[in-house]
Amino acid sequence: MTNTNNNLVVETENLIKLYGDGIETVRALNGVSFSIRAGEFVAVMGPSGSGKSTLLNMLGALDLPSSGMCKVAGQELAHVKDLDRFRSKTVGFVFQLHNLIPTLNAIENVEVPLQEEKMSDAARHARADALLNLVNLSDRKHFFPAQLSGGQRQRVAIARALANQPAMVLADEPTGNLDSKSTAEIMELMRRINREQGTTFIVVTHNPAVARAADRIVTVRDGKILRDEKIESVYLEDLKEFKETALGLALTEGNVPEEIRHLGLDGVAAPLRDVLKKI
Ligand SMILES: Nc1ncnc2c1ncn2[C@@H]1O[C@H](COP(=O)(O)OP(=O)(O)OP(=O)(O)O)[C@@H](O)[C@H]1O
Ligand SMILES: [Mg+2]
Repeated sequence: MTNTNNNLVVETENLIKLYGDGIETVRALNGVSFSIRAGEFVAVMGPSGSGKSTLLNMLGALDLPSSGMCKVAGQELAHVKDLDRFRSKTVGFVFQLHNLIPTLNAIENVEVPLQEEKMSDAARHARADALLNLVNLSDRKHFFPAQLSGGQRQRVAIARALANQPAMVLADEPTGNLDSKSTAEIMELMRRINREQGTTFIVVTHNPAVARAADRIVTVRDGKILRDEKIESVYLEDLKEFKETALGLALTEGNVPEEIRHLGLDGVAAPLRDVLKKI
């Protein structure tokens, strides 16, 4: 794992990314300053075209910014000589489309990023094998991508992203093509890896349910950070909003509306009232 400075995996200062030829320039990023600590699980949200993928591309050293500072794992990317090597050592990628190689089975796909490592074939195979166990695919190791479900393919993609023990995993809409059940499973898996292995995750998503499973939600708009909230404060905001609804007002008064008594709210009305009064 690459060294991290002050425990920060990402540090940017006034990051600007322009695309185009000067006549029709697009300001995809327009001054992004933020940082991400090692071990954080961050969701990035924002409308289409707001700059989320561009930001991820900068953090993953897939492209360099037009100006501003972008430090990843303690290294200023503009000064890194071999970006390809830096990327493969430091960052794991998971995309909306899994990008698995169709002619390789699951275990061979996970071995691909390990080809550059000086390790024996047996060690490489053992590492890929362990990673597929980690993502709960022990019974699908020899299946080809076409023989796997969408969720299973994304599990292979996650295992592949973890192959080089990266400081962080960047995921661009990893659940964009999945149904809600597979989405929840993939999120659960990424959270477990984050907790157990301490891997930092930065996940772009349009799905509020996915974002709420993060520690923090960064909202991008017009190439800038519009909001940067800890999930705790997001939930507190939800509670405050709920308190102002008809049901919230009734419960704050300790009243359970007759119409929904059958739901068993009587049993929890008193503690709910105490919570709502507190906020
Ligand atoms: N290679 C490129 N050349 C020119 N413009 C680009 C390029 N890549 C992105 N852009 C522009 O930069 C802006 C930000 O694009 P980006 O892909 O980062 O948005 P996004 O937030 O990821 O959107 P989505 O949610 O649709 O994926 C858009 O206006 C887009 O048209
Ligand atoms: Mg995008």
